[in-house]
Amino acid sequence: MIMAKDKKVLVVGSGGRCHAIVDAFSRSERVEKIYCAPGNAGIAEQAECLPISATDIDALISFALEKGIDLTVVGPEAALAEGIVDRFRDKGLRILGPTREATRIESSKEFAKELMMKYDVPTASYKVFSEFDPAWEYVSSRPLPAVIKYDGLAAGKGVVVALTYDEAETALRSMLLDKEFGSGKVVIEDFLEGPEFSFMCLVNGRKVYPLALAQDHKRAFDGDKGPNTGGMGAYSPVPFVTEEIRKTSLDTILQRVADAMVDEGVEFTGVLYGGLILTKEGPKVIEFNARFGDPETEVVLPRLTSDFYDFVEAVVDGRPFEPEWNDKACLGIVMAAKGYPGSYSKGSVIKGLEDGDKKVFHMGTSLDAEGNLVTAGGRVIMVIGEGDTLAEANEKALEAVGSIKCDNLFFRRDIGHWSL
Ligand code: AMP
Ligand code: GLY
Repeated sequence: MIMAKDKKVLVVGSGGRCHAIVDAFSRSERVEKIYCAPGNAGIAEQAECLPISATDIDALISFALEKGIDLTVVGPEAALAEGIVDRFRDKGLRILGPTREATRIESSKEFAKELMMKYDVPTASYKVFSEFDPAWEYVSSRPLPAVIKYDGLAAGKGVVVALTYDEAETALRSMLLDKEFGSGKVVIEDFLEGPEFSFMCLVNGRKVYPLALAQDHKRAFDGDKGPNTGGMGAYSPVPFVTEEIRKTSLDTILQRVADAMVDEGVEFTGVLYGGLILTKEGPKVIEFNARFGDPETEVVLPRLTSDFYDFVEAVVDGRPFEPEWNDKACLGIVMAAKGYPGSYSKGSVIKGLEDGDKKVFHMGTSLDAEGNLVTAGGRVIMVIGEGDTLAEANEKALEAVGSIKCDNLFFRRDIGHWSL
């Protein structure tokens, strides 16, 4: 059956992940029109950007109803945590994402940990604290490194892996006494060792549709040094994860958690992102997210050869679908504003994006009054290399990065080092 190319989609968000989602929809045989709210300067080349913020749910609903949007995909957790999915569903609008209640798998580390313990999902053992004194007493009596996590949304910055007791004390002080991220609790867990990888699945209740694997690079500088960031680069596939390990991860982690959410009465629909670590005892969970990973999505979706609209529609409707992936490698390097993940300036002109045949996802860009492309965020652009091997993808990405001119950007040269 030949389907008409008549669907209208709305992508909510503005970063590189949303650019990759827009790009995947732009390759669909079903999609006639793509809107993105609010989008950014790069997304504007592939979608109509709307001056509506990702958390202005009233305005998004009015727009979706007025335009007859067939399917909405949500990028950022903030919109999910505000209940965008509950509200869209109430109006009969088709949307990919978890309800506000189910988003707790990401927004509450304590909820996620309790669920994993109850359903025997492999993860580090942990304790929860809401007061500084007992937390510090506990940490100072245990071996280093200490893993200290703020229990709430902290834009990827609420985790400290402290190598000294001084560092641990500073982290606990800022989270529990100075309330740097708000008035949440702190989870302290055992330190796990091994390479990390990201396993994202689309989920509808007990139905789990795995995506291709990726690996993120969370530290700011080469050699995995420096502070944790939202992610400085990624690649897919991940050769050190064998098919057997992938299957174990799917069965004992992703599928088990999807089933557990149904059994707990908080059925999950949307993207279940497992941040996993391959320890000597097998894969274990570092964290869950309730949304597409950023920057993983930017290297996973380009490898999808199935129609993205068909895929997401099948998931939201709970129908069977087996996504197909090309056997190429995709590697992306993030170019971030100097100073990120700390404070940084905006408004530096970026040149060289148009030269040659480059694939670039915009993370934080805008146009200035003269129409120049300028930096407008911490992570600014992600430059993608594709090839038959990871080494080739890496070479192409580095070459493309080298031709981008901006005096206020830095990047890592060693993305993919675990597999190259
Ligand atoms: P998260 O935001 O929970 O993904 O944590 C950020 C980073 O901290 C992870 O990507 C890991 O590198 C590190 N990390 C978090 N939890 C642990 C753990 N239990 N053991 C070792 N490293 C961890
Ligand atoms: N790349 C990690 C995240 O999306 O949280």
